[in-house]
Amino acid sequence: MRVLVLGSGGREHALARALHRDPAVTALHCAPGNPGTAGIAANHALAPTDPTAVVELAERLAVDLVVVGPEAALVAGTGDAVRAAGIACFGPDRAAARIEGSKAFAKEIMAAAGVPTGDSRVCESSGEVDRALDLFGAPYVVKDDGLAAGKGVVVTDDREAAARHAGECGRVVIEEYLDGPEVSLFALSDGRHAVPMLPSQDYKRAYDGGEGPNTGGMGAYTPLPWAPDELVPEVMATVVRPVIDELRRRSTPFVGVLYAGLALTAKGVRVIEFNARFGDPEIQVVLDRLATPLAGLLQACALGGLPDDLRLSWSPGAAVNVVVAAENYPAAPVKGDVITGLDEAAQVPDAYVLHAGTALDDQGRLVAAGGRVLNVIGSGADITAARAAAYEAVGKIGLRGSHHRSDIALLP
Ligand code: AMP
Ligand code: GLY
Repeated sequence: MRVLVLGSGGREHALARALHRDPAVTALHCAPGNPGTAGIAANHALAPTDPTAVVELAERLAVDLVVVGPEAALVAGTGDAVRAAGIACFGPDRAAARIEGSKAFAKEIMAAAGVPTGDSRVCESSGEVDRALDLFGAPYVVKDDGLAAGKGVVVTDDREAAARHAGECGRVVIEEYLDGPEVSLFALSDGRHAVPMLPSQDYKRAYDGGEGPNTGGMGAYTPLPWAPDELVPEVMATVVRPVIDELRRRSTPFVGVLYAGLALTAKGVRVIEFNARFGDPEIQVVLDRLATPLAGLLQACALGGLPDDLRLSWSPGAAVNVVVAAENYPAAPVKGDVITGLDEAAQVPDAYVLHAGTALDDQGRLVAAGGRVLNVIGSGADITAARAAAYEAVGKIGLRGSHHRSDIALLP
């Protein structure tokens, strides 16, 4: 199978790595990819948000499957264009990707499908914002209706800050605060059937102890030893299958991965948000544990015919991902500093490094080129061992001004 992966982050490096080790994959391409994917795939310069360019490349490379990483590409209609060209595509059409692209649409689908989520109001004027803030009280949750790369949500006790964020966004969803641990669950779907992956947990705040600004995610681990056994079947029955059914009923079947961001509240499981693609940094740890070959799985989603009762196989043990972020991430990350120590990190048993925001400078040196620069993955018999491997490898890496959380996967 000839496969093209679209995107350039740690998620795409993890996908490429899992596809590279699948014997069914005979040719592996990334667009644009990054210096990490260059070691295992052919990189092609291209913007995944340009559907015409993607189709042209996919045809020229004669690929059997296109895997769309970033949500911006899905929302731009790359999935539609690839499918229209007769090429199998893992990643939904633009219409189904609205489950991520519009918070108001996601709420509408959940209401229609009877999926448990926080009570909310869509607000377009300051009067509506004031009434919704009064209705729900503090802590206030204000979400930009559109895509905002994980930065459109403000959760605050400060009413003025909440109202200010709403004013800056235009159309917002104001929501009941959901209290409880968060879980990310990825379900693979062919539009009709759905199969769950392992649940994982992400750390969204920039600093230890959940302090600091929201980020795209500073680390993750899987599995969740504290989660109830019935969590995954319950979420499949009450969240994932109803949403897949509702989207199919509307003639916009969801083909790809439905990412359910969940809060386990005192009142039960509630959906915080949906994404239409793999979560980053969670998919890195989930793929680390996946024993089922990935290519056939993604192709079965793209072509239809994913058995509903398929059970994925998982390596025993645990995986931890620690994100190394550039100086001043998430505000205005500093780019261009040289990264050292990757060879030393690669020597650490049970650890490896994925590239997330890196580039080669004009002297061929590896430099930081994004906010989240590297994903350092550790694995082991349990979370403690996986965590130790990841942090030992983090300790080998040099990047001036960089920061990482030291409490990833530190369980109480
Ligand atoms: P989102 O972009 O919707 O994933 O939101 C980013 C983060 O904001 C989530 O992972 C939560 O930590 C937090 N958040 C979003 N909605 C709520 C809510 N209703 N109650 C509490 N926290 C929330
Ligand atoms: N891990 C958060 C996200 O991918 O949106």
